[in-house]
Amino acid sequence: MSESNRLRIAIQKSGRLSKESMKLLRSCGVKFNINEQRLIAHSDNLPIDLLRVRDDDIPGLVMDGVVDLGIIGENVLEEEQIDRERLDKPSTCIKLRELDFGACRLSLAVPNEFNYEDATSLEGLRIATSYPNLLRRYMQNKGITYNDCMLKGSVEVAPRAGLSDAICDLVSTGATLEANGLYETEVIYSSNACIIQSAKTQTPAKQALIEKILSRINGVVRAKE
Ligand code: PRP
Ligand code: ZN
Ligand code: MG
Repeated sequence: MSESNRLRIAIQKSGRLSKESMKLLRSCGVKFNINEQRLIAHSDNLPIDLLRVRDDDIPGLVMDGVVDLGIIGENVLEEEQIDRERLDKPSTCIKLRELDFGACRLSLAVPNEFNYEDATSLEGLRIATSYPNLLRRYMQNKGITYNDCMLKGSVEVAPRAGLSDAICDLVSTGATLEANGLYETEVIYSSNACIIQSAKTQTPAKQALIEKILSRINGVVRAKE
């Protein structure tokens, strides 16, 4: 893979963070057009390429240095960090700043008809999640044993499909839970989006561009406070 002299920024293709991520970059003066069919969007006015990917892939892309910057939820970042530390894969990146959007929580949720009292109601049951590490940490602290059902997507349909008794997934507006006959019972982790940088050494030109973008982000965020 040849090193591009354009700055690569990974953002969520579609989901909780997509619109706000694009809005933030545009308000920083990065001009680009999105073609829904394309993974990459080239900026017209700056040497920047946007990679539009699944949010859960963003931390790994930054930690591996495939992209230079990423906009991601802190919970997704921490999940990937725990995973990579265990696997001895690169697990570091630089958190440049927390952002003022993307507030969401990683929560436990159960079907509406489930008689839930507290987390011990889940003892011995099966929980579907895309965040097995954060779930394990929470349940271990509470001393509750459970069974995993690892799903990379469509976690919200697992109980109805008979794959699990409960789920542990990201909740933002709550619309996904409601649409699937589930209700939230415990919040495991709350966070906002943040912008992260790869730990690799950048060329002076790229590092200068990163600093320019970051100072504009600081200005945009401060103006809203
Ligand atoms: C998360 C989660 C739900 C949705 C919840 O998906 O998996 O699908 O957000 O949001 P809501 O409470 O506003 O309905 P995410 O944005 O991470 O996309 P992904 O499922 O493609 O990873
Ligand atoms: Zn996701
Ligand atoms: Mg989802």
